[in-house]
Amino acid sequence: MNELTKKAAIITGASSGIGKAIAHHLAEQGADVVLAARRSERLKELAEEIQQTYEVKAKVVETDVTNKEDMERLVQVTKDEFGRVDIFVNNAGVMLLSFMKNDHVDEWDQMVDVNIKGVLYGIHASLPTMIEQGAGHIINVSSVAGHEVFPSSTVYSATKHAVRALSMGLEKELSRSGVRVTNVSPGAVDTELTDHITDGDVIDMFKNRSMEPLVADDIARAVAYAVTQPETVNVNELIVRPMHKQDSE
Ligand SMILES: NC(=O)c1ccc[n+]([C@@H]2O[C@H](COP(=O)([O-])OP(=O)(O)OC[C@H]3O[C@@H](n4cnc5c(N)ncnc54)[C@H](OP(=O)(O)O)[C@@H]3O)[C@@H](O)[C@H]2O)c1
Repeated sequence: MNELTKKAAIITGASSGIGKAIAHHLAEQGADVVLAARRSERLKELAEEIQQTYEVKAKVVETDVTNKEDMERLVQVTKDEFGRVDIFVNNAGVMLLSFMKNDHVDEWDQMVDVNIKGVLYGIHASLPTMIEQGAGHIINVSSVAGHEVFPSSTVYSATKHAVRALSMGLEKELSRSGVRVTNVSPGAVDTELTDHITDGDVIDMFKNRSMEPLVADDIARAVAYAVTQPETVNVNELIVRPMHKQDSE
């Protein structure tokens, strides 16, 4: 089954977690992949791994999604190499959970920059090409926190609600353009995402939580499902939560 043969897919945040798993799954389906993130050494290792495993090309473009020129270059490099952009996965994100009273204003800035502006720059960079092609697929990775708000997720949730609003608006505006839009909302997934939390109150709160999270492959399969549907099918929203085997909350 190689449903994505001859397609070119860009994945941001491909250096770890969900993005890395998405890169694997799209390559498995035959897509050439362009891997974007800041940690280029990790991307190079992944590109080698992918090229050794699947019969596809994997290209690395060191990218900071908060930099508009980086995102424009990412798309240009993809077009130079593969002649088109079929799939753009806006996956890069940070989840710096903190309580509002603890005033982590620099982390609020970072989440707005990466989670909202990064997605906007991804749309800015890729959409004109997709509209010109009359075909394409934008995947935005939001979160269950884009549907609900939890204590300490206030700003993160605000950014992920914004991502979902962008997906909803895009889908409506593009419904006759040939460009499909999918918003993916994962629940808890075991990745590096929580390693960057600095608020001691949140770290303490997490110590008392016991639940079995999803693995990154669980989300990557959902993305692979959306992009391998017939071109007449627009999968707009996917929410993927873990089964809570045990949760003390
Ligand atoms: N894990 C969960 O429970 C969960 C739940 C719901 C939604 N999500 C969402 O899923 C997405 C992926 O997260 P993950 O769980 O896979 O976490 P992760 O392992 O920490 O991956 C985050 C990725 O984002 C990239 N990134 C961060 N800042 C960036 C920047 N300025 N420019 C370019 N890339 C940047 C990182 O790459 P570099 O550091 O190399 O740049 C990394 O590849 C995020 O949008 C997250 O909000 C995750």
